[in-house]
Amino acid sequence: MAPRENFGSRFAVIMAMAGSAVGLGNIWRFPYMVGEHGGAAFVILYMLSSFILVLPIFFAETIIGRRSRQGTFGAMEKLAPGTPWKWLGLFTVVSPIVILSYYSVVGGWSVEYLFKAACLDFTNAEPSEIQGFFGQFISSTGGPIAVHTIFMLLVAGIVLAGVKKGIEGFTKVTMPILFILIIALAVYSMTLPGASEGITYLLKPDFSEVDAHAVAAAMGQAFFSLSLGVGTILTYASYMRKEENILASGVGTAVSDLLFAVIAGFAVMPAVFAAGIEPGAGAGLVFDTLPFIFNKMGVGAPWLSAIIAIIFFVTILVAALTSAISMMEVGVAYLTEEKGMRRGSAVLAITVFAWCVGVLCSLSFGPLADVKLLGNSIFDFLDKLCSNWLLPAGGLLFTLFVGWKMSRADVFDEFTNGGTLKANVALFNVVWFLLRFVAPVGIVVVFLTNLFL
Ligand code: TRP
Repeated sequence: MAPRENFGSRFAVIMAMAGSAVGLGNIWRFPYMVGEHGGAAFVILYMLSSFILVLPIFFAETIIGRRSRQGTFGAMEKLAPGTPWKWLGLFTVVSPIVILSYYSVVGGWSVEYLFKAACLDFTNAEPSEIQGFFGQFISSTGGPIAVHTIFMLLVAGIVLAGVKKGIEGFTKVTMPILFILIIALAVYSMTLPGASEGITYLLKPDFSEVDAHAVAAAMGQAFFSLSLGVGTILTYASYMRKEENILASGVGTAVSDLLFAVIAGFAVMPAVFAAGIEPGAGAGLVFDTLPFIFNKMGVGAPWLSAIIAIIFFVTILVAALTSAISMMEVGVAYLTEEKGMRRGSAVLAITVFAWCVGVLCSLSFGPLADVKLLGNSIFDFLDKLCSNWLLPAGGLLFTLFVGWKMSRADVFDEFTNGGTLKANVALFNVVWFLLRFVAPVGIVVVFLTNLFL
């Protein structure tokens, strides 16, 4: 077996983790969840879940990953050999691959939109044509599958290049650029005529729309957005060097992810209102809204609008890639370390499997639209199953593992780097309490209310 690679620096760790966290979850999923679940009130619920329920799970995963220096399956075998915990390891190998499959479909849409932007399709179309773009495209057969394939191949290529050259090299360069771009776009969007309604929508909470589903969706969004509950962060943490600070990486990643989502909200929502689109429009929200804006902008300045459109879709694409590679890496770590496969074969196996499931998801917007699983299309079913159930369930088990199965001394040692990090020592009891009680009880309560209300 090849020796394990490590991320080269603290900056690289945070960028890789933030790269995993910041993705379509922030730019595509967050705005439409906000629109479906009542605006600012949802944003508040999402922030609360992120820090109270989900951040402790970030610590749990990093503690397990760095202590064991193994992917999820190996970690369980190493820290709790011969126990049923290995099933948690296995479960968390499968679910990111399922997420990857439908994630790649949305990644494909951003590839398509990038092409369209580059061909000046948004700039030159009649405003009336623009409205139909998205619906027409996703319900067709060949086009979405073709771009899904392109996206999947890009992901496979980066993962194939390895942890240091591939993942670290790519995320270290792209993440900072991404932050600058999204801020610029938010500023632009907020100056559009009619944008103020969107700004109010994001800032003024109306709790009358909040129900059990909104609470569950907020928690699901927090898990999805921080890439937690399936061992992605665990696997990345296994490449962290011993002197890295778990508290700082967790807070750094969570804050960047949250900021990014909120800024993306400010880039999208004002434009939604300015364009007169319904905020509850669902998965197509971002893709419906932006072309409209680019088109409108194009009237006065066609080139400028095309350039901004291209930058935006490159941004989405890069953000999606840095997340998708983290999903694939979980399975690759498992197949190479536990099954002795070569990296190339592991990448190939996962790519083929996720591609096939992705094709079904893609077709569920068109030819397979009538296939319903518990009342949802295949795509929505997988997304809801993963975000609202599998991720929180995986997260719950990870906190239980750290809080109740590992010894307090080991957790302390890992969290504080053997007692050398003063702030971590001071905060340890708070984190320990969150890990053992607050996060598990909170997740169970959200589960139960969602089931029975
Ligand atoms: N967090 C990423 C996003 O916001 C998606 C992601 C990457 C993810 N790895 C994950 C989601 C693992 C769930 C589980 O786009």
